[in-house]
Amino acid sequence: MKEQIEQLQEKALSDLQLAADLKALQDVRVQVLGKKGALTEVMKGMRDLAPEERPVVGSLVNTLKDQFETRFAERQAELQQQAIAGKLASEKIDVTLPGRRAVLGSKHPVTLVSEEIVDIFSRLGFMVEEGPEIEQDFYNFEALNIPKDHPARDMQDTFYITDDLVLRTHTSPVQIRAMLKHKPPLRVIAPGTVYRRDSDLTHSPMFHQIEGFLVDEKVTFGDLKGILTHFLREYFGEGLGVRFRPSFFPFTEPSAEVDIECVICGGEGCRVCSRTGWLEILGCGMIDPEVFGSVDYDSDKYSGFAFGMGLERIAMLKYGVGDLRLFFENDLRFLKQF
Ligand code: DAH
Repeated sequence: MKEQIEQLQEKALSDLQLAADLKALQDVRVQVLGKKGALTEVMKGMRDLAPEERPVVGSLVNTLKDQFETRFAERQAELQQQAIAGKLASEKIDVTLPGRRAVLGSKHPVTLVSEEIVDIFSRLGFMVEEGPEIEQDFYNFEALNIPKDHPARDMQDTFYITDDLVLRTHTSPVQIRAMLKHKPPLRVIAPGTVYRRDSDLTHSPMFHQIEGFLVDEKVTFGDLKGILTHFLREYFGEGLGVRFRPSFFPFTEPSAEVDIECVICGGEGCRVCSRTGWLEILGCGMIDPEVFGSVDYDSDKYSGFAFGMGLERIAMLKYGVGDLRLFFENDLRFLKQF
């Protein structure tokens, strides 16, 4: 019996040592102390012993049990420690690894064009003004010398909200707002979104314009030509061919349209310039005295010039984009190129 206990002791303690994880350790405990465990069997066997042998065996069993429990607790602590260390190692963060960078967007080509043009005119002393996209008939038409039933209203297919409210069809109403807000002399540049009932390959119902004007004493058509030629050469390149053609706008008199030498073919003639070598780029003119009248400027004392142009068209020419729709489709493959 004593031998049996010693063998059991040896095996039990070595099994504890060999248990590789907490689960295996628990299994060893069940094998030894469980209901059908080896030590439990030994204790049951004590019934058959002679009374004088019982205390001896009993003491051995108790010693074994104590030793087992002590070793068990030690081994359990060891394995718990190991488990924690393993978990810590696997969850370790390497703070020296390079971080994941947030992807930076880029500016929309129309924004780029607008900013560059504003920049050129800022250097000439023009200040930026803005107006609302939902505009009153007075600012969009009336004050610009386009009365109701005037044929010039047909030039612009208008989105009406009410009889008196429209989505502005051009940035020209900002001229009126700025002139009512400030006294001359005045130099203003006004980029903005405009709307027209027009949608095909070369027209979008929403697009962008930039408007500019200057009012002072003794402003002449020569000033208009000088400033616009300077701007166009600054923007498209030194030595660019520029020509002024007579035209008509209700809010300017005289009016002109400006063409530049085709930036695609250099004036040779190509598909983009319809073989003419010239591209129409903006409208302009001397501010009509009627317009000064609607903002209470003295047209005997002051004169001025104004101009307006479409930003998408300029972006297409500047960056060689052949299809207007690309600007509004939000395709990242296109937008990333700017
Ligand atoms: N508002 C005109 C348009 O949308 C463009 C324009 C022409 C603006 C001549 C002007 C100007 O200021 O003088 O077609």
